[in-house]
Amino acid sequence: MDTVRWGILGTAGIAHGAFLPALREVQGGVAWRVGSRDLGRAQVFARENGVLHASGSYQSVLDDDQVDAFYIPLPNHLHYEWAMAAMNTGKPILCEKPLTGSLERTRDIVRGARERGALLWEAYAFQFQPQWQRVRQLITEGAIGELEEIHGTFNTQLHGEQDVRWVKAYDGGAFNDLGCYPVHVTQLLMKSLPDHVVARAQMREEVDEAVWAALTYPGDATMQLLMNVSFCRRYDTFTRFVGTEGEIRVDKMYHPGVRDCVELLQKDRVIREFTMKGQLSFTDMISHIHQVMRHEAEPTQLVTEVGLATAEAMELVRSQWTVADSARSDGGT
Ligand SMILES: NC(=O)c1ccc[n+]([C@@H]2O[C@H](COP(=O)([O-])OP(=O)(O)OC[C@H]3O[C@@H](n4cnc5c(N)ncnc54)[C@H](OP(=O)(O)O)[C@@H]3O)[C@@H](O)[C@H]2O)c1
Repeated sequence: MDTVRWGILGTAGIAHGAFLPALREVQGGVAWRVGSRDLGRAQVFARENGVLHASGSYQSVLDDDQVDAFYIPLPNHLHYEWAMAAMNTGKPILCEKPLTGSLERTRDIVRGARERGALLWEAYAFQFQPQWQRVRQLITEGAIGELEEIHGTFNTQLHGEQDVRWVKAYDGGAFNDLGCYPVHVTQLLMKSLPDHVVARAQMREEVDEAVWAALTYPGDATMQLLMNVSFCRRYDTFTRFVGTEGEIRVDKMYHPGVRDCVELLQKDRVIREFTMKGQLSFTDMISHIHQVMRHEAEPTQLVTEVGLATAEAMELVRSQWTVADSARSDGGT
């Protein structure tokens, strides 16, 4: 396969803001078709973003025999239906995070993917970046001793009342949109699920606009995740990995740039490593998928390997949180 022809479901902001620029950077792939609920919108999107074909439905993208792989950047509640439908084609799929807004539906997808041997990835771009790979290597090699705490933040300012994230029926809310990140980071490092959760969700109308949670993990020394996410604060993804012998600090955990570093603090020294080479956030993820499709690499981070534990831990948090109404106009936690 010389060129991977991508089919894109929907004219999403993340498709033109992150996926397509990275696809151009990777090379070896082409944006072949975009499908939208509205043909005119698909045509404009295709023209503005260099997609070769446009059509007026998502199904038309799945039905296009020329497409080699699908990207699903739809609102969260549509991931289930379209990931399931895409799996029936037997082609690789990159579905946006969170895979679904419920454990039950994620279980279904993971079961379906296992049965079909599907190549299905959830679009956590950080998993494929050298920054995360270095953090994980340092932790597994014992550079900070035993891991005792992860402090994970993902705050952002959500502008616009029309955003799909404000709609409960679309599986909106800060925990689905942002909380999945620190939970996923933690589950990638842990072999077990949390055994205890304390959590608080601050609601704005029908969805959580901010969530604070503490999750503890079983073991000889208890590991804990302390996380906070919010739609109402300055952008911040600072993450700390605290161990018995030191700690790792990462300023831009999920979309790092060339100036962002991994900071390792040990007893008598601080080491800063700049791991990103200037590539866009989605570049390593798309590059990996292309390599797998060309049989140049074994697939890693498939949903069948790493998707379920995150969904299980998230369900536990949801089941335990106490609810508070937004008390302040800025909605701070
Ligand atoms: N991995 C990341 O770093 C990252 C970053 C941001 C967002 N995301 C994820 O990407 C997905 C899309 O987010 P986004 O911010 O790009 O969303 P968006 O700009 O609102 O786009 C969503 C697209 O879905 C389609 N759609 C179908 N039903 C819809 C409905 N009822 N209301 C609105 N749009 C509908 C629309 O395309 P048509 O009208 O053309 O059909 C729309 O363009 C979410 O799952 C989000 O969590 C991931």
